[in-house]
This record gives sequence, structure tokens and C-alpha cells, in this order.
Amino acid sequence: MSKTEKFKIRYLRFSDAREAADIYNSSLPSLSRNEPISQEKMEELIKRNDKRFFIGLFLNKRLVGHLLLIVKDGKSKVLDIGIVIHPEYQGRGLGLLLLRKAVDIAKIKGYKKILAEILEYNNNSISFFKKNGFRIVGESDRRITKNGREVRLLKCEYSLNKAR
Ligand SMILES: CC(C)(COP(=O)(O)OP(=O)(O)OC[C@H]1O[C@@H](n2cnc3c(N)ncnc32)[C@H](O)[C@@H]1OP(=O)(O)O)[C@@H](O)C(=O)NCCC(=O)NCCS
Repeated sequence: MSKTEKFKIRYLRFSDAREAADIYNSSLPSLSRNEPISQEKMEELIKRNDKRFFIGLFLNKRLVGHLLLIVKDGKSKVLDIGIVIHPEYQGRGLGLLLLRKAVDIAKIKGYKKILAEILEYNNNSISFFKKNGFRIVGESDRRITKNGREVRLLKCEYSLNKAR
């Protein structure tokens, strides 16, 4: 990101739904979901914000990526996250900005761990999370099929107890 570019991070609104869906759909091969998300479905996800929170990253007022936080009940104190950066904007440090936001929120809310589930062949994403302090701790029980083939979903975890 150059010095002249301005970024902003805020919760997504209904009016962001179409762009947010486009960003999500552009990364479909890297994500566990197979069907594209429609604008209407994205509006629903943005609205249903008791357990899920969508936070957007805006570069020069354009939505270029989002962070999904899934809040789980119980004592697990694990915050599930998903990050998607528009393909044209990947590899420029923007994913890290959203990851830092997730860590800040997790700290404030008293979470002990952050979990991202990554398709086993998603090497870019695995490098990204490992580089930023996550480690692979196992496999998800969820069964994912991509292009007719079963794919493992790796659990990538970040512990908030350690000093950074
Ligand atoms: C994974 C993802 C969120 C990372 O965001 P990003 O903005 O590209 O990552 P950053 O620029 O902050 O970090 C760059 C590092 O991430 C990795 N990386 C991830 N995607 C990359 C890409 N397309 N190009 C270059 N590096 C990439 C590399 O390890 C890179 O380190 P390097 O610069 O030393 O080589 C982004 O690539 C993405 O949206 N991927 C598709 C969706 C996805 O797989 N999400 C993860 C599921 S939760």
C-alpha cells in the first residue's frame, strides 16, 4: 500500500452487500463454500449480526476485502474468522490489517484463541496465517468437496496467551 492510499476499517452495511459478495465470489476456489453468494444472501449475512460480524476494509473508499467473525457460545473462547481480499489487492499487506483487527477484537472480548479453517491446497493462505503467528493444529470434522473431490480443511490457530 502506498503512502497516498487511505484505508478505513468498519462494519459492513447493506449498501456494501453487492461488492462484498463479488469479493467473496472471486475467491470461491480458495474457500470451503462451492456456490456463489448472491447480493441478497450477503445482505442477510450482514443483517444477522448477533453471532456473525462482517468487517470491511476500504481502500480509497472502495471495499477491497472483508473479515468475518463468528462468535460461538460456550466456554471455548475461540473466535472463528475468515478473511477475503479482492484478488487484485492481495499480497499488499491488506490481509494483515484485517488480521490485526481480528486480534484486537479477540483481545478486547477475552478470547483465548482465533481459528481459521483453510483448504489443504490453499498455500497462499496457509503461508499468510503461518507468517502471522498461526499454526496448524489439526483438521476440521467438516467434510468439504471441491470439484467432486473431498478436500481436508486445516485448522489454523492463533493463541492470544503468548506474548507478541
Ligand atoms: C489469504 C489472504 C486473506 C491474505 O491476504 P493478503 O492481503 O494477500 O496478505 P498480505 O499481503 O497481508 O500478506 C502477504 C503474505 O500472505 C501470503 N499471500 C497470500 N496470498 C497472496 C497473494 N495472492 N500474493 C502474494 N502473497 C500472498 C504470502 O505468504 C505473503 O507473504 P510474502 O509477501 O512474504 O510472500 C488473501 O490472499 C485472500 O483473500 N485469499 C483468498 C481467500 C482465502 O483463501 N482466505 C483465507 C480463508 S480464511
